[in-house]
Amino acid sequence: MTLDFVPRTAILEEIDRQVPDHHLFRFRLPNAFPIAPGQFAELTIPGIGGFAVSTAAFAAGPLFHACIRRIGRVTDALYRLPLGARVGLRGPFGKGFPLEEFLGRDVLLIAGGLGMAPLRALLQALVARRGEIGRLSLLYGAHDPRVILFKDELNALARQGLLDLHYTVDFAAEIPWRIGGIACQVGLLPQLLDTVRLRPERTVAAVCGPPGLYRCVLDELAGFGLAEEAIFASLERRMRCGIGQCCHCAVAGVYVCRDGPVFSLAQLRRMEGAI
Ligand SMILES: Cc1cc2nc3c(=O)[nH]c(=O)nc-3n(C[C@H](O)[C@H](O)[C@H](O)COP(=O)(O)OP(=O)(O)OC[C@H]3O[C@@H](n4cnc5c(N)ncnc54)[C@H](O)[C@@H]3O)c2cc1C
Ligand code: FES
Repeated sequence: MTLDFVPRTAILEEIDRQVPDHHLFRFRLPNAFPIAPGQFAELTIPGIGGFAVSTAAFAAGPLFHACIRRIGRVTDALYRLPLGARVGLRGPFGKGFPLEEFLGRDVLLIAGGLGMAPLRALLQALVARRGEIGRLSLLYGAHDPRVILFKDELNALARQGLLDLHYTVDFAAEIPWRIGGIACQVGLLPQLLDTVRLRPERTVAAVCGPPGLYRCVLDELAGFGLAEEAIFASLERRMRCGIGQCCHCAVAGVYVCRDGPVFSLAQLRRMEGAI
């Protein structure tokens, strides 16, 4: 057994109840947990089970932040834990976003729903190096205005002029909506693409959300003239080992856990059935 299979003990230290059933959890480990934007960990609750979860923060040190949706057996058990409870963490696993390729370029982030969690980590990394990138835009789509994650911090970045921020929701009681002073459209996420001024030849894009989002947005970005090597998406597959040994996550001979979960569109084109 390699050390990758041995969970480290982490303490549940803080719960930020962002929106119902989408809480941001902070865990403390005994040592540094150097997880990069786009990478993930396997979180286990003793006696219950485990699941894969992305880092939702760009943070050094012995902390792990994850925005977790209560969806099934193990996440439900996590939501019932008190502060101070012990969980297991394995990782960090996978290849994250290639940050160096974002420097010196315009950056377009596109988040659908909970896809905002991994993109929050990337956004924090980019803001930390804000002087080294051009335009930084975020298009964020959610079901309705009440379930938009991290809106206070996103709005604050927009107000400081660090981020060009656009929201859209599937449903809203009134039109137009404003979220903390930021305009919010009602409609599908790809429609927001018309609202950003793209310089395709110098833009890198990162997309994170449900599979349906990838099917329409990735081709559309390529259609705008972005290079397929400069469009990145994070795939979600059911995972077990997280280290390329159980074949659970394999797509077209590629292990999503080890070779991804972040892939360029150029790579995805060669992985039949990936999107
Ligand atoms: C690389 C990676 C990163 C992830 N990051 C996050 C994250 O940041 N936050 C978060 O809340 N969740 C994340 N997930 C999803 C999380 O691992 C699953 O939701 C997990 O199964 C929840 O465990 P559970 O026992 O509560 O639910 P389960 O009982 O396992 O599943 C509940 C329902 O979700 C469906 N489901 C579970 N996993 C997947 C999947 N991978 N793809 C499609 N459908 C699935 C099941 O079919 C079932 O209907 C990530 C998954 C991967 C692979
Ligand atoms: S989860 Fe085991 S090979 Fe990817």
